Amino acid sequence: MTTQIEKKEAVAKEAIKYIEDDFFVGVGTGSTADCFIAELGKIKSRIQGAVASSDATEKKLRELGIPIIPLDSVTQLDVYIDGADEATNHRHLIKGGGGALTREKITAAASKLFVCIADDTKLVSQLGSFPLPVEVIPMARSYVAREIAKLGGTPRWRENFLTDNGNYILDIHNIKINAPVDLETQLNQITGVVTNGIFAQRPADILLIADSGKINTIKRSV
Ligand code: 5RP
Repeated sequence: MTTQIEKKEAVAKEAIKYIEDDFFVGVGTGSTADCFIAELGKIKSRIQGAVASSDATEKKLRELGIPIIPLDSVTQLDVYIDGADEATNHRHLIKGGGGALTREKITAAASKLFVCIADDTKLVSQLGSFPLPVEVIPMARSYVAREIAKLGGTPRWRENFLTDNGNYILDIHNIKINAPVDLETQLNQITGVVTNGIFAQRPADILLIADSGKINTIKRSV
């Protein structure tokens, strides 16, 4: 039987195939992204630089001697590789379980190609079983929570947690995500919200899902 960590390692290896010489690479956050960082370390001399989506990822890249660049120094990243908390066949995602959603969304937005890597436990028919993270400016926490409740969700403050940007996270439980693109917009329009963990307006371009012994590739049909 293939274990979850073996699946993460396998999908990280597959993602390396999307890295070409002299690429600028965006690097995600989390245990699956960590497997990718380990693989990237093996080919670090081939790339021009990596942009980290969190302080934790920056530390790991640094430890492996992978060249780190600020996002401001490039007009576009060639590729962004990151995990997800949930993913659908439409390549819509929930991200932010680790609280890095804002920098992850910025890095994805600035990338030509977004390759999402995950094991098969993350593949769902509809987003929303995983509590949806929302990054919030601290003084707006209660106001935003009340607005979220009006949309039908149950927000819970992630206590004793600050994002890399110094903000709070509200995790929304029990919210129906029938229209991911619309809900992503609605949540972002609440004053005090920095961003939310639905990645649907800019979905993954390619979703690699590790199953027992094989990798399934889900991409936009042309
Ligand atoms: C962090 C994230 C991660 O991509 C997500 O939580 C998946 O993590 P893991 O690979 O450890 O399951 O969005 O903010």
